Parts: sequence; structure tokens; C-alpha cells
Amino acid sequence: MIRESFSGSIPTESRKSAAQEYLTNLSDAQIGDEIDRLLSVVEPKLREKWEAMIENLPLQTQVERLWELHQKRKEALVKALPENVAILQEMSHEFVETIRERVKDAKEIGRGDNGKVLADPVNKHIAYKFLLRPPIGHQNSLIEEASMQGLFHEIAKDHAELRVGVPRLEYFSIDPRLTMLAMERLDAVSVRDILDKKAAIPEGTDIDTLFDSLGEFVKELNEKHGLFHLDIRPGNVMIHKSQTTSGHPRIYLIDMGMSKHKREVRSVVVKEDGAFVQKVDKVSDHGSVQSVRKRLKQFVQE
Ligand SMILES: Nc1ncnc2c1ncn2[C@@H]1O[C@H](COP(=O)(O)OP(=O)(O)O)[C@@H](O)[C@H]1O
Ligand SMILES: [Mg+2]
Repeated sequence: MIRESFSGSIPTESRKSAAQEYLTNLSDAQIGDEIDRLLSVVEPKLREKWEAMIENLPLQTQVERLWELHQKRKEALVKALPENVAILQEMSHEFVETIRERVKDAKEIGRGDNGKVLADPVNKHIAYKFLLRPPIGHQNSLIEEASMQGLFHEIAKDHAELRVGVPRLEYFSIDPRLTMLAMERLDAVSVRDILDKKAAIPEGTDIDTLFDSLGEFVKELNEKHGLFHLDIRPGNVMIHKSQTTSGHPRIYLIDMGMSKHKREVRSVVVKEDGAFVQKVDKVSDHGSVQSVRKRLKQFVQE
């Protein structure tokens, strides 16, 4: 596979001729693989567009065109990101190999519908989230997820008195060979794991206090910032293992894989007084917070 043998990521200008030379040595099947790979790492809508753009080009030119499109997309996305979030777009071959090597035997600390989260075996403060497949449907691309997580983290920090946290984003990589985000590893248990009896509820947990704060936090997000998490459920709420230590958040909101800004929240067609009208879907993260609270309270009472 080209991925293994081409030591570098998507070529920049200076590497272009080397890449072109490299391409001429590949069989049509190998070039086909590379085209598939380059198309598989972008969201479906964009993939369709790109497919149409390269349709009638010779195979080699298709790869070159896709490399260019990837590069342009990255440049545009970097501009849209909140500040202070390191993005790795042109990773050295060595770095990719190092991370790959590191996570080979890394312990899996969580898995959701879309991603798996691994603990860095060396640095206990770092966790990596890998998407299990390219994003589908309403799911955010990795860069959108990272961008939202960066924003949510900043907002949580601005309201430190609520003691609600969002894992700090360390950096993320959208290199097609290694798409993942590196973030603060939480010393926390998910409500999902508590309900499934895989983890104990941390000692001293005051469910009402924690969920009141979480409720206030999402109101702030929705109403003041126009940001919606849209996927608040037991797997995406975590409780710090040490509830009695002050100075850190007690409850965490994680997984910004569905989060959207108000302007992107889809509108729905509803029937009103006999007529069909377009309305912004009345979403409220607050309602979801309350249902997670209810389930946890029921669980501890049983
Ligand atoms: N920063 C983190 N520190 C520790 N555990 C985490 C962290 N992020 C996620 N997890 C664990 O991994 C699980 C899956 O992560 P999540 O981001 O929700 O993935 P998905 O998008 O697949 O739902 C979570 O339910 C939680 O148990
Ligand atoms: Mg999740």
C-alpha cells in the first residue's frame, strides 16, 4: 500500500515532483487504492463532490488532484479553528510511526458508537480518540468535533464556578494516515459505565448538585453561545472519581461528535393550523441532562 511506503504525508509543493515520480512507479491497482483512501477520509457530501471533479481525469492526475483538494481543505479548516489548538496536518513519517507504535498496546478506556478512546501508555494525562469509521450522517468530521471541543472547553473554563468540565484538547491530527484527537485524560467514570455496573459511582457524588450545574452549563451554551451538544446521554457524561477534592470539575461533558452551532441545527417541517411550515427544531440539551439525571437517580435507589 502506498500509505506504508510513501514516507511523508500529502505532498507540499517542494515534494511534489518526488511524489509524481513515486506515482509513476505504482500499478493502476495501487493508484486505485490511494484514490479510495483519499476519498474515504472526507465526509460523504464532500466525497461526492470530489468524485465528480476527478471523474474524467487520468488515474495519476486523480491522485494529484485529490492531494491538492486535501491540502486546500486543511488550510481552510485551520482558519476556522479556535486559537491555541494545535493541529497536525503535515506530520513527519516518524511522528505517525511513533504514535502508532505507542497506541498499539495501549489500553482502551472507552468506546462509543463512533470512536474508541485509548490511554497513552507513557503519559497518564493523555487519551487519544480514534474514529472507528469515517463520519456518517449528522456526525461531525474529526476537525469539527475538535473545533467544538476546543470551544466548549473554553466556555467551561470561563464558568469554572459551575465545576463542569470539558476535556482539554491537546492537539489533533487530520493526516489521512492517522486521524485522531489527543486530549486530557479524565480521572472519571461515565454514567454509562455506572449504569452498566462496570464502575462504581464515586464516593460523595451528590447527583442533584452535579446535574444542576450541568443543566446551567448547557443553558449557557445554548442560550448565550448558540451552541448545542445534541448528544447528551449516559456515555457522554462523566463524573470525577474524587468528588471531595476541590479545584477541579466534578462532572464532565464529553464527545462533541454531534455538536452544532445554532445556524446549523436542522429545521423541520411541521403541520401548524393545517399548513406545513418550516421550523427550527426545538432542541434542548437541558432536557437530555434531566433524563440522564433521572436514570442515575433511579439506579442508585434500586
Ligand atoms: N478524555 C477522556 N478521558 C477518559 N475517558 C474518556 C475520555 N473521553 C472519552 N472517554 C471514554 O470513552 C467513551 C467513548 O468516548 P466518546 O467520545 O463518547 O466516543 P463516541 O463518539 O464513540 O461516543 C466514553 O463514554 C468514556 O467512557
Ligand atoms: Mg459518546
